[in-house]
Amino acid sequence: MLKKLVFFFVFFIFSCPLFAQNPNDEEKKVFIDNLLSKMTIKEKVGQLRLISVGGDLTLDKVLDQIEAGEIGGIFNTVVEPDLSRMQERALRSPNQIPVYFGFDIVHGHRTVFPINLGIAATWDRNAFAKVAEVSADEATSDGLNVTWAPMVDITRDPRWGRVSEGFGEDPYLASEAGRIFVEKMQKQSLADKKSLVTTVKHFALYGAVEAGREYNSTDMSERKMFQEYLVPYKAAIDAGSRAVMVALVSVNGIPATANHWLLTDVLRNQWHFDGVVVSDHGAIRELINHGVAQDAKDAVRIAIKAGIDVSMNDEYFLQFLPELVDEGAISEDLINQACRHVLELKYDMGLFKNPHRNLDPNFDIETMFANDRLHRTEARDVARRSIVLLKNENNLLPLDKNKKIAVIGPLADSKRDILGSWSGAGRANLAVTPLQGIKNAIANPKLVSYAWGANLSDDPNLDKFLNLYGESSKFDKRPANKMIAEAVAQAKKSDVVVVFVGEAQGMAHESSSRTDLDLQASQKRLIKALKATGKPLIIALMNGRPLTVKEEYQQADAMLETWFLGTEGGNAVADVLFGDYNPSAKLPMSFPDNVGQIPVYYSHLKTGRPHGTVNMGKYTTSYFDSPNEPLFPFGFGLSYTDFTIDFSLSKTEMSPNGEIEVIANVENTGEREGAQVVQFYLQDVTASVSRPVKELIGFESITLKPHEKGQVKFVIKYDMLKFWNDKMQYVAEPGKFNVFVGADSTTKDKQTFTLLDN
Ligand code: BGC
Repeated sequence: MLKKLVFFFVFFIFSCPLFAQNPNDEEKKVFIDNLLSKMTIKEKVGQLRLISVGGDLTLDKVLDQIEAGEIGGIFNTVVEPDLSRMQERALRSPNQIPVYFGFDIVHGHRTVFPINLGIAATWDRNAFAKVAEVSADEATSDGLNVTWAPMVDITRDPRWGRVSEGFGEDPYLASEAGRIFVEKMQKQSLADKKSLVTTVKHFALYGAVEAGREYNSTDMSERKMFQEYLVPYKAAIDAGSRAVMVALVSVNGIPATANHWLLTDVLRNQWHFDGVVVSDHGAIRELINHGVAQDAKDAVRIAIKAGIDVSMNDEYFLQFLPELVDEGAISEDLINQACRHVLELKYDMGLFKNPHRNLDPNFDIETMFANDRLHRTEARDVARRSIVLLKNENNLLPLDKNKKIAVIGPLADSKRDILGSWSGAGRANLAVTPLQGIKNAIANPKLVSYAWGANLSDDPNLDKFLNLYGESSKFDKRPANKMIAEAVAQAKKSDVVVVFVGEAQGMAHESSSRTDLDLQASQKRLIKALKATGKPLIIALMNGRPLTVKEEYQQADAMLETWFLGTEGGNAVADVLFGDYNPSAKLPMSFPDNVGQIPVYYSHLKTGRPHGTVNMGKYTTSYFDSPNEPLFPFGFGLSYTDFTIDFSLSKTEMSPNGEIEVIANVENTGEREGAQVVQFYLQDVTASVSRPVKELIGFESITLKPHEKGQVKFVIKYDMLKFWNDKMQYVAEPGKFNVFVGADSTTKDKQTFTLLDN
C-alpha cells in the first residue's frame, strides 16, 4: 500500500507543470554543459565581454578578438554588413559561439517616437505596445537582437536630465509601460525572428540621485525602495525581461555594481531572476572612484562576486578574471554561472541554430536609411497622443486653418532637436519639424511665416556644452535684438503666434542635470516681446523634463507640452493645433511651481500636520514663500471638450477573497469628440505605517462623442491593497480605504470601503 502511495505521489509530482522538466530545458542543459566543458577559462570570460567598435578598437581588431573567442556580444554597431562579418568570424572561433548585437533602442529605432516621458503621457497601453512592436520590428530587421531598454527609473527630480528617458514619477504607470515594452519587444518566444531581448535599467534607483545631480549617490529606506522605486524593475522582470542593466550610482552607500544585496539577494534570490546582469558603461572601473575597489583587478573581483555577469565596454574582465580564478580569489563556478546565463540567452534566442538571423551581408547604407522603412503613421499617432494641453483660454485652440500664423522660435524648425536624445539610429533629415508640419496641414502654406526669434540661450558655455561632440545645436551669431525684431514683425503681420521654446535635446540627456528649470533668458525676452504685440500667443514647450514655466503660463493664451516628439513630431503638433486630433494626454510627472519645491510629487506620505488653508497654513507641512502645490499636477491635461466623471462602488465592505467593482460614469459635456483618461487612486486610511495620500492603481481611456455618456470599470482586488508593513512584510491590513476616481491626481471625489478581517 505504502509503495503504491509513494508511486502515485511521485507520479503526481512529476506530472505537475511546476515540476515537469521541459524537454527543451533538458536539451538546453545538455547542450550548454557540453559546451562549457569544452571552453577554456579565457573563452568563458570572453562570453562575459560586451564590446563596441571605436577609438583604438578598430573593426579589424574587434573581428580578430571575436575569432579568438574573446567577445560574447557587440553593441553600438547598426550596419548589417559589419554585423554579418562579425558573426562569420564568431563562427570561426574555437567553439563557434555566435555573438549577439545590442543597441539603445529606447524610444524607437529608425522611426523615432516621442521620448519616453512623452510616451508615458499618452497613458495609453496600446501606444506603449505600438512603440515597442515597431521598435522591435525595425531593430531586428537591422540584425540587432538586444536592446538596453526599457528604462524604468522612477524620477521625481526634474533637475536630473535622464528624466526624459523614463516614464515619470509613478510606480504603477512606469510598471505598466515597462511591462508592455518587455512583452511586446521580446514576444512569446525569444526564438521569434522579430523578438528583441530587453534589458530593464538602471537597476536600481538611478532616478533618485541626490539633488538631481547626475551620477550622484542615492540613499533610501528599504520600505520606500520596495514600495515605490523597485516596483517597475520588478514588473519588467516578472514580465520576463531577460536582461538587467545595473545603475552607475551607489545605493545606500554601496555602488550598485558592487552591491551583493541588490544584485544577488534581491534580484536573484528574492525575485528569482535567471537572465543576464549587465554592468553599465565604465561602471566596473568606476568602483575605484567610488572608493570601494583598490585597483582594476579588485574592481573586477568585487563586481563579479556581487552578481555582475557581463561587463559593458569591457576593459578588465579578460585581463583579470582568469588570473583571479588561478589565484583562488574567485571560484571558477562563478564564471561558469555567469557564462551559463549568457549561453542560455543565446540558446533561447536560437542563435546557435540560426546565427545569421535577420542579417543580410549586402544590405547597403542607402536602403538602411530609406524613408520607406519608417513607420510614420504609428509615429504620428503616438506623438499626437503625447501632447499635453496645459492651457486654452477662450478656446483659442484649435486654430482655424485660414488664419495667418507666425511660427517662431529656435525649436520651431529644428530637425535634430525634435528627435530627442537616445535616437542614434534615427536620421534628423527624415524628421518633420513643427514649421513643416503646420505647412503640411493647411491648403495655403503662404499663410505661415517663420522667424528664429532667439537663440536657445545667451550663454556661450551652454553653446559649447551642447556642441562638444560635433555640431548639434544651432546658435545664430546675429545680435539678439535683431532676431527679436524680425520675430515681432512677423507676429504683427499674423493673426496668431505659435512660439516653440524649451530645451535643446542635449539639455535633457545623460549628463545634463540642471539647477535652474526656467526657460533661458533669451527665450523669455522673445516671449515678452511677442506678448507685447497683443496677438494671441500659443506657447509650445519642447523639452525633456518638467520646467518651471509659471511666468510663461500666465503670458500664454494657450500652452502645449510637446516634449521631443520624434520623426513625425511636426505633423503631430499640427494635428493638435488645428484640432485634427483632440488632445488627450496627461502629465506623467508633476511640474513644480519653482525649483525649491523639488521633489514635488502627488503620492507623498501623510504627515502629522497636513497642509491646509487654516491660519494661513502656519504650523503645517508647507512653504510660506511659495505655493505648496505644483504648477501642473501629475495626471493633468486638458481637452478641447469637457468631461464630467462620477463613480460608485459595488460594495462598501470587502473580505480578503472578495472584490469590489468601481463604476465610473463619464460624460462628454462639450461639442467635440474626445478621449478622457479616467484615473483610479487609492488611499489606505490607517495602517501600521504612514501611507501615501493617494496612489494610482488603475487608469482607462474612454472616447466619447459630444454629449455621449459612457462607463469605465475598475476592480479592487485584495492584492492591490498590499504594502510593506512595519515588519517589512507585504500584506494588506484590514480597515478603511478611500477610493478616488477623476481626471487628474488632485481629484477630491471619494468613496470609502472597509477591508474586513476575513
Ligand atoms: C548609459 C546606458 C546605456 C549605455 C550604452 C550608458 O552611458 O548609462 O543607459 O545603455 O551607456 O549606450
